[in-house]
Amino acid sequence: MSEKRLAVVTGAARGIGRAVVLALLKQGRAVAGLDINKEQLGELEKVVKEAGFTCEALCVDITNTAELTKTFDTLSEKYGGIGILVNNAGITRDKLMMQMEDEDFDKVIAVNLRAAFIATRLVSRSMIRNKFGRIICLSSVSGVIGNAGQANYSASKAGLIGMTKSVARELARKNVTANCIAPGFIISDMTDKLPDPVKEAAKQMIPLRRFGTVEDIANAIAFLASDQAGYITGQVLCVDGGMAM
Ligand SMILES: NC(=O)c1ccc[n+]([C@@H]2O[C@H](COP(=O)([O-])OP(=O)(O)OC[C@H]3O[C@@H](n4cnc5c(N)ncnc54)[C@H](O)[C@@H]3O)[C@@H](O)[C@H]2O)c1
Repeated sequence: MSEKRLAVVTGAARGIGRAVVLALLKQGRAVAGLDINKEQLGELEKVVKEAGFTCEALCVDITNTAELTKTFDTLSEKYGGIGILVNNAGITRDKLMMQMEDEDFDKVIAVNLRAAFIATRLVSRSMIRNKFGRIICLSSVSGVIGNAGQANYSASKAGLIGMTKSVARELARKNVTANCIAPGFIISDMTDKLPDPVKEAAKQMIPLRRFGTVEDIANAIAFLASDQAGYITGQVLCVDGGMAM
């Protein structure tokens, strides 16, 4: 039964989000992918179709609470509730703390943490009603051990861990689980931006000596979304080649 409940993935158009959409579709779920990037949402639809599936691909700015609320209400009505939420959308505005402007801090918190909180609050109503839910937040190794140049990003990702643990405690009695995935360095547009020497230095900090793939993350998320993970809640699963241990 839970297999058929709708899964919503934010930041679904590319990278990790796109891989998560495909992994959840392969589990036989109905999936809605939300993203602010219309062009890349078209790409998502194309890739999903090529893989033999269909999904909802919706252009939404998750920091616009009115837009987000309307989207969740429409989806919830159409699918009889939302069973799985993957808070994946995230941005970086990296700068050393002394150079970091207030706006760099506020923008990252607005997308990575505040919007994830609002999305979680929006889905929790139908999850409580249906006595089933899986909330999965994309934290980061930066939120677990910190990272120079990412005071804003690390704060948002550590904030997600605290929020997820609180939500896990609040909703456990309703059979709703909430967990974080903390990826390390993953081959993606986000890490492509890094200069080569930084990438090399990063590899030296990874015991498995390689960057992860988006599928490495999607597989872990698909597991946490599955019925097999029903007794796991309030946890942070580091998928980082051993960086944070
Ligand atoms: N790539 C990594 O190495 C890495 C490591 C640790 C954590 N993460 C986290 O994993 C998640 C996905 O990372 P990724 O590498 O796939 O990132 P990405 O930049 O490739 O994709 C993020 C997606 O979020 C969307 N997005 C941004 N702002 C939005 C908004 N306001 N409303 C709707 N959508 C919005 C973007 O358009 C984009 O499609 C992020 O939360 C990121 O912080 C990534």
